[in-house]
Amino acid sequence: MIIFAIETSCDETAVAVVRDGREVLSSELFSQADMHALYGGVVPEIASRNHAAHIGRLSALALKNAGITKLEIDAVAVTCAPGLIGALLVGVNYAKGMAMALNIPLIPVHHLRGHIAANYIAYPDLEPPFLSLVISGGNSLIADVRGYTDISIVGRSRDDAAGECFDKTARVLGLGYPGGPYLEKLASGGDDALFSLPHPVIEGFPYDMSFSGLKTAAQNIVHNTKQKGEQLDAASLAASFARTVSGILVPRVMAAASEFGRNKISVTGGVAANSRIRRDFIAAAEKDGHTLLIPPINLCGDNAAMIGSQAYYEYLSGVSAGLDLDARATMEVSEKF
Ligand code: KG4
Repeated sequence: MIIFAIETSCDETAVAVVRDGREVLSSELFSQADMHALYGGVVPEIASRNHAAHIGRLSALALKNAGITKLEIDAVAVTCAPGLIGALLVGVNYAKGMAMALNIPLIPVHHLRGHIAANYIAYPDLEPPFLSLVISGGNSLIADVRGYTDISIVGRSRDDAAGECFDKTARVLGLGYPGGPYLEKLASGGDDALFSLPHPVIEGFPYDMSFSGLKTAAQNIVHNTKQKGEQLDAASLAASFARTVSGILVPRVMAAASEFGRNKISVTGGVAANSRIRRDFIAAAEKDGHTLLIPPINLCGDNAAMIGSQAYYEYLSGVSAGLDLDARATMEVSEKF
């Protein structure tokens, strides 16, 4: 089954052609990061306009690079939730137009289920169950993937996402956007034990996380050092910051894997690119005898191939939408369309 997949939930316009959920025939992406960098974060209206400007061009390119015509597409898949509503609507309406014109099924996909499905492309033999950590710019959650479409949340951030915390901390240090890669670069050579940053625990919810206090603490260190006229050891702050984020994530995921009896653990989302976090997960998985799955960086960040992969399994489970399909800014990963 050949699925044409569209992803426009945030600031990446992405289109892909995926066969049977596992084989990526083409995957095209236009990142708007440079445009949003000017403002230090994503500007929703700019994101929507750029999706509208680029989606047609990327669709034509995706077909060309897949070596197929649009008549060979069996279904159209699109991210419908969660995300920036105006941005999502561009993809949803484009997908509806294609489904109607070609008279083929329209498959709605939850963005975070897509991030989990990135693993099916990276690891062709992988099958659920497994435990999945998704750490991106907008979400941080631990999910128990019991089946391809049977997913429940085990823990989540109560406030900021891990990526947002990296972005805001980078901004206060005067670094570029998105901040994660800049902070990572700055951290090399820093002393990761120099700064003690908060590591909150949420009573009664052992797998939930909180990152906003960590962000505020890092900001206070930057401001207080400046007010005292002292020189900030920014490299050590960046290294301490990464150690703390990793220290919040790794033990929770390992404990959840043990409670839910999962021996395969996946880490996806843009923050999975962070080398400190990767290193700590590799060490912890080795120690506990778990198989660790971390897809390559191009599959960790937003892309449409992961949407095409999840769409295949959604379709097999009976999911499809009519032309009244709407985009939703928020939606639980376990909810049905
Ligand atoms: O999954 P993603 O590409 O997009 C969405 O969130 O929708 O994730 C982007 C996030 C940004 O917050 C970015 O700063 C973070 O991933 N990120 C990183 C690194 N590379 C990207 N965070 C930490 N270290 C990195 N190397």
